[in-house]
Amino acid sequence: MSTVRILPDAAALAESAALRIVNQAQAALAERDVFSLVLSGGSTPRTLYARLAQKDLAGRVDWPRVHVFWGDERAVPPDDADSNYRMAKEALLDHVPIPPDNVHRIPAEMPPEAAAADYEGTLRAFFAKHCGGRFDMVLLGMGDDGHTASLFPSTDVLQEGRRWVVAHHVEKLDAWRITLTLVAINRARLAVFIVSGSGKAARLREVLYGPEHMQTLPAQMIRPPEGRLLWLVDEAAAGSL
Ligand code: 6PG
Repeated sequence: MSTVRILPDAAALAESAALRIVNQAQAALAERDVFSLVLSGGSTPRTLYARLAQKDLAGRVDWPRVHVFWGDERAVPPDDADSNYRMAKEALLDHVPIPPDNVHRIPAEMPPEAAAADYEGTLRAFFAKHCGGRFDMVLLGMGDDGHTASLFPSTDVLQEGRRWVVAHHVEKLDAWRITLTLVAINRARLAVFIVSGSGKAARLREVLYGPEHMQTLPAQMIRPPEGRLLWLVDEAAAGSL
């Protein structure tokens, strides 16, 4: 089941997403020992993370029981300007009392395939013990080409049916990426896309309401069979809906 919520602007989008994280964390922790949150990279979530780090919201989250992961990472060291880990650390993790052991970054300083194998081991070990083997909440962005995480159009990674994490060289970027696969992401209890800006409007309409082209529109392949899918978009991104 999927839902689309349109927010007036980027600030309202960040507010809505941050509140959703707080509410999901509280609900999960009322039932289970930990709350597992998969963070998205890119630029859109930065505002969301900064909003979540503010005391009025951060104070409502039991951070020692929260574990964070990443949906994908660039093949760069953790202090690199392009690192998704660095962005989340600066915007959120440095400002909340989350124990370092609860921050499970993708070790992207390693050779990409080794990083992917290592991270797969981390995920499988963690989810064998917690959260009933599923990700409580997965945050996702969408590129203007319809990619999500580092699942890019017409790439072999879209066919991966067993591994949870894969490294691949993205020809379009001429860069290596490490990404959760569809198998992993679709284990989510709740997957939330956060999409902002008029530059995404045409593609968002295709993804949401156009014909299925799952190989060229990877975002269409996010369909947690036992979970929920929520699209939080601002009016600029919803301009063609
Ligand atoms: C990344 C992200 C990627 C991102 C989209 C949207 O590592 O870049 O995982 O999937 O979410 O490209 O990026 P923006 O939010 O910057 O538009």
